Amino acid sequence: MIMDLKPKRKKGYQSPQGMHDILPSEQGYFRKIYTVCEDIAQFYGFEKIDTPIAEITELFSKGIGISTDIVEKQMYTFRTKGRDWLTLRPEGTAPVVRAFFEHGMQNLPQPIKLWYFGPFFRYEHPQAGRFRQFHQFGFEVLGEQSPAIDAQIVQIFYNILKELRFKKLIVEVNSIGDSQCRPYYKKLLVSYLKYRADSLCANCKRRVRENPLRTFDCKEEKCQRVRAQAPQIINHLCEECHKHFREFLEFLDELELPYSLNPYLVRGLDYYTKTVFEIFSTSADGSGGSAEAQKKLSEGGEERDLSKNALIGGGRYDNLGKILGNERIPACGGAAGIERIVQVLKEKGSKIPQPHYPKIFLAQLGNLAKKKSLKLFEEFRKNRILLSESFGRDSLKAQLRSADRSGVTHTHFGPKRSIGRDYYCERYENWHSGDDKIRKSGKGDEKKIKKIIRIPLE
Ligand code: HAM
Repeated sequence: MIMDLKPKRKKGYQSPQGMHDILPSEQGYFRKIYTVCEDIAQFYGFEKIDTPIAEITELFSKGIGISTDIVEKQMYTFRTKGRDWLTLRPEGTAPVVRAFFEHGMQNLPQPIKLWYFGPFFRYEHPQAGRFRQFHQFGFEVLGEQSPAIDAQIVQIFYNILKELRFKKLIVEVNSIGDSQCRPYYKKLLVSYLKYRADSLCANCKRRVRENPLRTFDCKEEKCQRVRAQAPQIINHLCEECHKHFREFLEFLDELELPYSLNPYLVRGLDYYTKTVFEIFSTSADGSGGSAEAQKKLSEGGEERDLSKNALIGGGRYDNLGKILGNERIPACGGAAGIERIVQVLKEKGSKIPQPHYPKIFLAQLGNLAKKKSLKLFEEFRKNRILLSESFGRDSLKAQLRSADRSGVTHTHFGPKRSIGRDYYCERYENWHSGDDKIRKSGKGDEKKIKKIIRIPLE
């Protein structure tokens, strides 16, 4: 029935819940972040990769882990007409590993360094900093097992935030071991948690069975009390993981990168081995923050703003290649939430360069002038001079009003009157530079204007 197809509307159509328009006024933030990423990527030798928005569902259910929140609750999965199950990508690492093997990159000189920037989808409960469509940029290094790479990945994300003028950042690091030491630690943790099951929330009781490390993420106070006494994986790492983590920390020290050890940092995706990290901004960078966190900050403590989500998360995922049915490939990477970064930039009132708006308005009077002006407009474009117009309006008054609104500093009368009698553009080589100088013209300038701009004067 057609009636059933009608969407529920408040007033006109709205974007789907948790999905947002990026308005012209916000594009500058995205452009700025993209440019910083591109520069850093070039410096560190990363090449850009774009993977499809949707992938075969199994890539994520196997790669991220069947008992993770993402796979259990947050995937946008649909069946195509060809009866394949596809999922809108909730993250970028599994697709990058898929692309790595699909295109035989394991046969190229290693490591392979790739970066990406684009939209991702998770069916989350929408709230501040948590959207159903959001954007990430990510950096991944495949084919290298040295902990120096783990440190360099953290450094790259740290540098990007510093370039974006973030002042106070907290880098939290941990190691969650590998297939040698984690199973033993898990057993230890499960027996500890089972003994205290009565003190856990219903969710954590389930987690003890399915994914015990995830109990560390619970925000419930009673679960955090249990967590405080729990055995820490850092004390149960095998020799190899221990050595890797120690060297990773030594590299961070050498880079003078401030970090803190968070023994409860486990990350929400199952593919991690060894190093994991997250980066937070402190309330000193934005406005919000709990009173407690603010106080600790003002006292010079290194406490992060507890009300904020991580801006960046990542780690090592040496087994993901194998999990996806290929060979083992050591790898490490991370990804940043762009909306969360933009939110902090806005909170701290960061000035983002705006696109260069025209300074000259081309006005015209009469039909013939309008025709000529259309052509003249193209001449300006060829000569890379930015100008605005209002060809849809005839009256000069309406055009001048529009000129006022567009913020131009000079109005330029089109072919009906002589061009540039009052003003001329002194520098015009690069309209992106925005430093065209508009000058009042003097004697002899008309010739110059004709020569420079090649305007078909009447
Ligand atoms: P993740 O921690 O799930 O890791 O996401 C990375 C970042 O994406 C988060 O720190 C957060 O800023 C942002 N983010 C995640 N979900 C949302 C959401 N619903 N709304 C807004 N922002 C969000 C990964 O995705 C891994 N693939 C990172 C990685 C790359 N590990 C190794 N390589």
